[in-house]
Amino acid sequence: MSSPYGTGAYVHIPFCERRCDYCDFATWTDRSHLMAAYVDACVSHAQALRREHPGAIDHVFFGGGTPSLLPPDDLGRIVDALQPTPDAEITVEVNPDSFSDRHARVYAASGVNRISMGVQSMDDEVLVALGRTHNRDNVAQAVRAARGAGIEHVNVDLIYGSPVESFRSWIASVSAALSDDIDHLSCYALTVEPGTPLGASVAAGTARAPDDDDQAAKYEAIDELCESAGLSWYEISNWARPGGECRHNQNTWAGGNYLAVGAAAHGFMDGARFWNVRTPERYIEAVSTTGDPVAVRVPQSLQDRYVETLMLGLRTRTGVDLAGWPDAVIQTAADLVDIGLLVAGGRSAPPNFDQSGRPSQTRDADSCHGADGQRFSLTRRGRLLASHVMSELASHLPDGR
Ligand SMILES: C[S@@+](CC[C@H](N)C(=O)[O-])C[C@H]1O[C@@H](n2cnc3c(N)ncnc32)[C@H](O)[C@@H]1O
Ligand code: SF4
Repeated sequence: MSSPYGTGAYVHIPFCERRCDYCDFATWTDRSHLMAAYVDACVSHAQALRREHPGAIDHVFFGGGTPSLLPPDDLGRIVDALQPTPDAEITVEVNPDSFSDRHARVYAASGVNRISMGVQSMDDEVLVALGRTHNRDNVAQAVRAARGAGIEHVNVDLIYGSPVESFRSWIASVSAALSDDIDHLSCYALTVEPGTPLGASVAAGTARAPDDDDQAAKYEAIDELCESAGLSWYEISNWARPGGECRHNQNTWAGGNYLAVGAAAHGFMDGARFWNVRTPERYIEAVSTTGDPVAVRVPQSLQDRYVETLMLGLRTRTGVDLAGWPDAVIQTAADLVDIGLLVAGGRSAPPNFDQSGRPSQTRDADSCHGADGQRFSLTRRGRLLASHVMSELASHLPDGR
């Protein structure tokens, strides 16, 4: 599916120095001996994908895991293999502990122009409770290293709602992050994942689960602090200065195409979602034997397209254009406006359904063309209750069969 954001590539780097207590991402702490073979596999897979999909690559996102654990020149080899356009956005997720001046210089020379730093908190007590190894000073130093090398965009990730985090500590973390030279802030509500040390402690009753009211109050505080610092929300968990929005993520929320390189990487191309084999060993093996590491490919059904259009679009400030949708969905949206969870109006985009009656996914602020009462987006209170709003609307969708 084309989107106003072009086509992207997601590259997964599944290595970390140690596992944080809350994290269930596909990453390993005992496989650094595989890094060289893993990079070779990514390079050869990326080259093969580019032969198959020779069109422009407009953004590349190195996620993890901890991509900054790779030797920085190796990351540059994967960028070269993907051959992004000269003005492509190229993001690398880094951990402040493993991001040096040298990383910043080599990244900048490879075309990297966006750093996304996993910080989580600026409070040392909270950092220890989350199982993190860095401190507030590493963060300021890492932001300076990125800026000093001329990297244009810097994001910081924070997590709110750890049981040891007071409201005051959270305000201090957000304020400290905003006082660094960043143009983007991502704030995620701490989620207790089963199978993690945090999940085990909560299940055993030795740690408290995050409290909904505490997380809601902290969310409202982020929004206020960001707005007064000149960063606006553009997706439920993301705030940016104008021009600092992440194109790769915007493409994902707009239902756009992106290739997937690396173990456990997910992609979406031409109406099908797919993901690669999960472990680095199996990825290296699949690339070197069959050349095809895709584990599962799922064509998107009509029902999937409706639901994804709703779920992804509603996360964004642009919202979703319900023109042409079933009357029951539009009526439900109007009811949600009446109770202050949605706001109607705004600006329209190309219709959400193409001529075959299928949802079209090229909807976004950048492609807007005029006022439109059928567009709906979440209010601040609606953002706090987003899953409720989405399931209310989705319950009135046709079943697609
Ligand atoms: C895959 S991590 C990569 C960043 C990098 N590895 C780091 O942590 O420094 C991306 C982000 O997901 C968020 N995250 C991971 N697990 C989470 C959880 N259980 N609850 C909320 N946020 C989570 C964190 O903010 C993290 O920075
Ligand atoms: S949060 Fe980041 S550093 Fe921590 S285990 Fe997950 S991917 Fe690794």
